[in-house]
Amino acid sequence: MHRRQFLQATTVASLTALTYARGASAQMGGMPGMSGGMMGRLFTSGSTWPTGLPLRRLDVLANTSPIPDEFEGTLIAAPYLASLVSGRTTELWGYNGAFPGPLIELREGQQVIIDFGNRLGLDSTIHWHGLAVPADQDGSPMDPVAPGADRAYTFEVPMGSAGTYWYHPHAHQTTTLQVGHGLAAPLIVRSADDPLGALPELTLMITSLSLDSNGQVTTGATAMGGMGGMMMGGAGELLVNGQKLPLHSVTPGGTERWRIINATADRYLRIGLDGHRFAVVGTDGGLLGQPLPGLTEWLLAPAQRVEIVVSIAAQQSTRYTLRDLGYAGGMNGGAGGELLTIETGRVPAQAPVTLPATLRPVADLGPAIARQRVVLSGAGMGMMGSFLINGKSFDMNRVDLETAVGRVELWDLVNTTFMDHPIHIHGTQFQVVGRTVRGLATPIAYPAWLDTVNVPAGETVTIKTRQMLPGKRMFHCHILPHEDAGMMAVLDVQPE
Ligand code: C2O
Ligand code: CU
Ligand code: CU
Repeated sequence: MHRRQFLQATTVASLTALTYARGASAQMGGMPGMSGGMMGRLFTSGSTWPTGLPLRRLDVLANTSPIPDEFEGTLIAAPYLASLVSGRTTELWGYNGAFPGPLIELREGQQVIIDFGNRLGLDSTIHWHGLAVPADQDGSPMDPVAPGADRAYTFEVPMGSAGTYWYHPHAHQTTTLQVGHGLAAPLIVRSADDPLGALPELTLMITSLSLDSNGQVTTGATAMGGMGGMMMGGAGELLVNGQKLPLHSVTPGGTERWRIINATADRYLRIGLDGHRFAVVGTDGGLLGQPLPGLTEWLLAPAQRVEIVVSIAAQQSTRYTLRDLGYAGGMNGGAGGELLTIETGRVPAQAPVTLPATLRPVADLGPAIARQRVVLSGAGMGMMGSFLINGKSFDMNRVDLETAVGRVELWDLVNTTFMDHPIHIHGTQFQVVGRTVRGLATPIAYPAWLDTVNVPAGETVTIKTRQMLPGKRMFHCHILPHEDAGMMAVLDVQPE
């Protein structure tokens, strides 16, 4: 069947219309003075989440292309009904009816075609978070896909991009609403020569879902920004691969590679595993130069990813908890919580694996030839609090910064507010070169590829960045209610 026909055959118009009416009224009827966190806490008490179920492996999106080195897949965004909490049916919005959506597995250099059908009641897009795809394939708010419409996203997977990414909608002012209803999924790029390719691997997609006492998603109340989601660590339950505190069975002594994705709208996750140390081997854009061993925790800001290697203790039939240790930074810290139970089996222990000393070179981008300043500010903390970049609220018809293809720049990300903001730039991976706290500069100890960096309250983070493709790119705070409230700007990348 031709792909267009397939897309047309998959319509759920009536459910869509109903959904959007409900989403919109929740948005209007929300209490703007109240934080998303508080709403979540008040309303989630009625729902009972099953815990301890075997950890779900995510569906993998099928490659329907007969052509070698090409990947073609179909993603339909539509509302559907799911059983998440006892005695209730929850309306989610999903890609291909799954929460999280299907895992897309790509290889460096592959040609990719994703046929997207929007069966939601509002404009949507698919944004390939962290991947350097052409500006017009990036799913930015400048290219909305109307309700009922289809479009194909086509791009080539850049060489050197092997790493852990994710995809999500990026429609104007409704990203919180859409991601909050379940539209988010992982994307992994593999290389031909992965130095850790022999390790057993797990993808842990962490999302938060806020349900009211009827089991319905409440994120609409905070979708328009304001105080929503920025205090008390946001609203809702922390889920791993769509499950509340699932169970992952391991071989005692086994060494595993875990790809952890913070796909929450607004949560800082300080990841730790009881009784264990781990090595960080990769960040947003893939592997580090060398493993960072012996760590007990790792702060994962909203939208960031981390790859860790854990050697599980050798004791049989023992349980350990992977948790969010809580974060006290800025005003948007969270109390933490349990994420995943690890249980060792009743089998002989494996010997731990020794990691290679080097992983993949993280090259310096070279000398910077320009310096730009990005000041984060906010006016008023009341119900109409504003979230600004260089003094302005987002306007997609305005250009805020300019650069040119190939130009290496230093950007000073200056946070003048009392809360942390995770700043994300589309179209590239960058490196943090230093931090300044009250005038004191600290260089960064090791280079790593990031597309999102946490800029703590009152601090300045300096990054080195370069865009290799022309066009207009978004850069913004990835606390989604802040993004929707205007903490986003446009970078115009001129052709060489
Ligand atoms: Cu993950 Cu502009 O987005
Ligand atoms: Cu992005
Ligand atoms: Cu922010």
